[in-house]
Amino acid sequence: MNLPELKIRHLRAMYPVIQAGMGVRVGNSNLASETIKLGGYGTIASVGLGDIEKSKTDFIQESNRVLIDEIRRARKLTESEGSLGINAMVAMSNYEEINRAAVAEGIDFIISGAGLPISLPEYVENANIALIPVISSGRALNVLLSAWKRKYNRAPDAVIVEGAKCGGHLGFTLKQIEHTDTCSMEILFTEIKEVLKSFGYNVPVLAAEEVASREDIEKFLKMGYDGVQIGTFFIGTEEAGMDIKSKEVYVKARKKDVVIIKSPVGLPVRVLKTPLVERVLAGKKEKFSCPYHCLRTCNPSKVPFCIAKALLATWAGDVENGLYMTGCNVESIKKIIKLETFFDTLK
Ligand SMILES: Cc1cc2nc3c(=O)[nH]c(=O)nc-3n(C[C@H](O)[C@H](O)[C@H](O)COP(=O)(O)O)c2cc1C
Repeated sequence: MNLPELKIRHLRAMYPVIQAGMGVRVGNSNLASETIKLGGYGTIASVGLGDIEKSKTDFIQESNRVLIDEIRRARKLTESEGSLGINAMVAMSNYEEINRAAVAEGIDFIISGAGLPISLPEYVENANIALIPVISSGRALNVLLSAWKRKYNRAPDAVIVEGAKCGGHLGFTLKQIEHTDTCSMEILFTEIKEVLKSFGYNVPVLAAEEVASREDIEKFLKMGYDGVQIGTFFIGTEEAGMDIKSKEVYVKARKKDVVIIKSPVGLPVRVLKTPLVERVLAGKKEKFSCPYHCLRTCNPSKVPFCIAKALLATWAGDVENGLYMTGCNVESIKKIIKLETFFDTLK
């Protein structure tokens, strides 16, 4: 099967692949620019970017500053060709500011999830930017699209469907996660398409769950999806922003090491059972003071660990204290590869 190109609003890429904006600092300007050069959509994750000390006094400005630097760096590396976006999590306390900063920088698309991005069109106004919500049910999409239509007369430019086996925070109950057959990617596709049809929208629908090969992409195209978003598998690339010690943790991990815990974000999160997670599962609370209140809903006195610090530890290669978010397909990371090795298989 020849892989089709992927058109979203005014944007296009040679392959139907979006590189997931993975925080903290995994989906950085390196990974995003290389993805774009190889024929996909590149995404910079907007969470946890700022210098931790500077963020203590001015979290918002410091986060904006580094995001702008990252966008400019990616533009330079790609000579301003291709489609560059950000991933913005609704759960963040600087959600509005980070989006406005990216809009002012002329970003091409915004992918937004971890909550319903109801107010996103307000921050984008009339800019020619593709808006791509991340959704895990037809019901949630219906609520979102009704609000966008009523408040802003705005339609989405594509929809990313995150399945229950995907990496990162999950928009499913624990019961659904235990019985993924009740919320399979086939079922979700039908639900999402029905909702889009009821609004009269015909936009690309992208699958985000366990993609690590051309065959996985073809599987979703045959199901009716227009393309995929890839997270976990891309952690195992040279370009991903993470210390090699942490990348090796993913290479060595086995399916049995994958567990679900409750994240300070307020959603279930799929992670590797590393020392921090063992401590959390044993009911222990880490000693920490909240550096900059990055999450809207986090109560530092109640949560067992600081997710910002834990993800920064992963980025820095501190295996003892890091949080290793993953999808179910962690075993697809067999060794660290160049991103090009994967894209070569799509030709
Ligand atoms: C390490 C890691 C970090 C992630 N960070 C984010 C994030 O900052 N924002 C977000 O919306 N999704 C995030 N995700 C989810 C991805 O964007 C993507 O949808 C998901 O990884 C796709 O499933 P896969 O991991 O099975 O490929 C993350 C996933 C991983 C594995």
